[in-house]
Amino acid sequence: MRPGTLAERRRLYVLARLLVKRRYAQHLTLKIVAKTLTSSPRQLQRAYEQFGRGTFRDDLLARRMIAAAELMSKPSIQAQVRAALDRSAPGSVQAISMCAGQGHDLIGVLAGHPRRVDVTARLVELDEHNTLLARSAAKEAGLGAVEVVAADASMTDAYEGAVPADLVLLCGVFGNISAEDIANTVSHLPRLCAPHATVIWTRHRHPPDLTPYIRETFERAGFGELAFEDSPPFGVGANRLLTPPLPFTSGLRLFEFIGYDVLQPDFHASQGGT
Ligand SMILES: C[S@@+](CC[C@H](N)C(=O)[O-])C[C@H]1O[C@@H](n2cnc3c(N)ncnc32)[C@H](O)[C@@H]1O
Repeated sequence: MRPGTLAERRRLYVLARLLVKRRYAQHLTLKIVAKTLTSSPRQLQRAYEQFGRGTFRDDLLARRMIAAAELMSKPSIQAQVRAALDRSAPGSVQAISMCAGQGHDLIGVLAGHPRRVDVTARLVELDEHNTLLARSAAKEAGLGAVEVVAADASMTDAYEGAVPADLVLLCGVFGNISAEDIANTVSHLPRLCAPHATVIWTRHRHPPDLTPYIRETFERAGFGELAFEDSPPFGVGANRLLTPPLPFTSGLRLFEFIGYDVLQPDFHASQGGT
């Protein structure tokens, strides 16, 4: 390849990444970005193949995930986490976080909470970059008992040794999975929970608003509602297990993380959040 072509392709890649970073919340496709940069989808694809760590779609999804993770650190979620810790019985508290992202929701609260010394946690997150950031945030906050693992949170195996949990965080997950998988996950939660465990969850309220369905699903699975807060564009729920926990079973699939960009492309384009 001629050096000029290589430089041009690199320039195209850098410009595309910049555009994704600035306009991730809008409707973006390979075709639109290529056209904006007066190139072609094929050329742009080649630029990503040559210089990127993934495809254009991976880049866009990763940027939107970062934005969603930032939204997830909203005070409403942290307030529920804080309240759950305040309510915890004296002694050790075991926590797990599914699809933990950078761990803002838990680490942010633990850092300044009087029960921090009692809490042992496992954060499960697939993205290596997020796990590195979560690990360093935990270290910086002096939270030696917060373990961050790069693993598939959709399989119960990921929680072996870290359950039964007193606190289960399911933030930024329900907007990325199907309604059937929401029900499946909630029905298996008693296998991960300690008696009277608290589960904190979020879901966007864009139509069809599934939060009423999720609240009912929790009730059917034996959870009472402690709180449900409208925190636009999200609903934040806190539920407590009222029935006896079920035995832990490894090898169970809870959900398939499809991604809200696939599940709700219109909402995704306009909001950029889960
Ligand atoms: C919307 S973010 C949630 C962020 C996080 N709960 C918070 O409050 O910061 C969804 C996260 O799920 C992660 N993820 C997607 N599929 C996963 C899987 N199968 N196992 C673990 N993490 C996954 C993504 O990498 C992303 O960080």
